Amino acid sequence: MIEQEKIQEINRQTDIVALISQYVTLRKVGKNYRALCPFHAEKNPSFYVNPDKRIFYCFGCKKGGSAINFLMEYEKLDFPDAVRRLAKNLGIEIDTTKGLKYKDIYDVNEFACQFYSSTLTRAIGKRGQNYIRERNIDVNRVREFRLGYAPTSGGLVTFMRQKGIAIDKLHRAGLVSQNHEIFRDRLIFPIFNLSGRVIGFGGRGIDDYIQPKYLNSPETPLFKKGGVLYGLYQAKESMRKKAEAILVEGYFDLLSLFQSGIMNVCAPLGTSLTEKQSMLISRFAKRVNILFDGDLSGIKAALRSIGLLIDAQVDVYVTSLPKGLDPDTFINQRGAAELNDLLGSASDFFHFYRKSVKTDSMEQEIALIKDLIQIVGNIQDPIKYDRYLKYISHVFDIPLERIEKAMVQKKDVQTPTPKRPLSTEEKLMAMILNASEHFHHAKDILSPEDFGQENIVRLYKKLLKDEKFDVYELSNGVDERLREKLFAVVIKEEPVPEQAYLESVMRFKNRVVEKRIRQKITEARKNGDEKALANYQKELNDLKRKMLNIKSH
Ligand code: UTP
Ligand code: MN
Repeated sequence: MIEQEKIQEINRQTDIVALISQYVTLRKVGKNYRALCPFHAEKNPSFYVNPDKRIFYCFGCKKGGSAINFLMEYEKLDFPDAVRRLAKNLGIEIDTTKGLKYKDIYDVNEFACQFYSSTLTRAIGKRGQNYIRERNIDVNRVREFRLGYAPTSGGLVTFMRQKGIAIDKLHRAGLVSQNHEIFRDRLIFPIFNLSGRVIGFGGRGIDDYIQPKYLNSPETPLFKKGGVLYGLYQAKESMRKKAEAILVEGYFDLLSLFQSGIMNVCAPLGTSLTEKQSMLISRFAKRVNILFDGDLSGIKAALRSIGLLIDAQVDVYVTSLPKGLDPDTFINQRGAAELNDLLGSASDFFHFYRKSVKTDSMEQEIALIKDLIQIVGNIQDPIKYDRYLKYISHVFDIPLERIEKAMVQKKDVQTPTPKRPLSTEEKLMAMILNASEHFHHAKDILSPEDFGQENIVRLYKKLLKDEKFDVYELSNGVDERLREKLFAVVIKEEPVPEQAYLESVMRFKNRVVEKRIRQKITEARKNGDEKALANYQKELNDLKRKMLNIKSH
């Protein structure tokens, strides 16, 4: 990846207050800046930026970290892209592909993408060009999708050989199987990750009788079907702006919408929506409008997706298309304006559910009610949850208590965990983290075994190893309560002066030693070892005298 020193340099040089000010209005309070948190809804500001420590933290939603973390969260960038963005602002050169895991497969995919898309523009790609035209897609209006064509006669292997890429790499990238190129006479849809790198391909057979109609790359280290959404890379900006995502089933549905100016659209890759994909969408949109085929399988797929999306805490709406049409054919027959109207008249998931299930069968109605209860049980927003609950109760005439009882797997509805005060060693660790300039004292006196809590031991070891005072990284993996406290101290409190620091460390160390001696005394007493007992008692007295000295300072 990117070298550690480069990252540190970028963090050091970036003015975190100036950066965050581009997105939220910061107000100075003491040495900190404060604002309404951009990551959750709130009335009183709990979002803090500390310019000295170069960190931000929200005491409401607990998001925090460096300038890089802020950009990742706000702009939905992955780590290398966030670093790249900051580096660019500072005029620092970095190579983010250096040491990229699976760089060789990324490279092969990129070359393959270039091969297929250039083929589409050449004479050998005639069949592909004709097909795209038949399907009313204007390549120039969907340029960012880098569509391509895989010729009947192949050619990818030869192309790669000229680039010096061995065939086993093509195997690893899933482009070649048993020495045969897997895509032939197909229109090629490159599939991108969120950074815009090609990770796999989909291919539509040009002739309708070709089986399967669509072929996707097999799973590779880069390509996991259930974890990607087609079009998300191109759509995410528009999704964020509109706070809405439109979910379609097919590649052509997506392209049709996109070239008609409806750009906040993405599609799962031929399988039903997964939990991962729902979580992914929820990063960019608060609301999802499902626009599936207007047939029974489309309705069933929509019903299956609703629960997952609700679990991801997005609002779910469903647009119903006339029977027999999919979004692509709808646009081609009736135009994008009419589709836009239809999208605007989407039903919320509850009404869609009721509409879709035939209620002339008692069995089906019961199944429907049970499904709805489970879905609503997973809504975490308490107000929404309440509304839907009352609604189910009213519509189906079921007492509220009985519905809540039926929610067997109901997740915790944000019950705040009681706040335990910090233990002595947690307090000490917070002090140490907050005063990097005195760390040599701690290093001289304390060893990891002096701590009793496993999370503190781990944290201290990390600190000894790297001496990087990054609370975000160091507290990664410790429980939320402790993490919040560590951030609170680092953000809000002044570093402890040297003398007080040294005393705290010594006092802690002495207590640890005292405890050890007391254990030995107990043992000596048990064994009747008078001599050892006397020795330890003396040791204990010496120590106590020393401790008194420190206290009287
Ligand atoms: P559809 O069968 O609805 O195809 O599959 P479509 O999008 O309308 O395709 P056209 O219009 O006939 O070209 C919907 C999606 O399911 C996936 C593809 O992603 C497709 O776009 N699929 C379908 C496959 O992965 N494999 C298949 O064999 C068929
Ligand atoms: Mn279709």
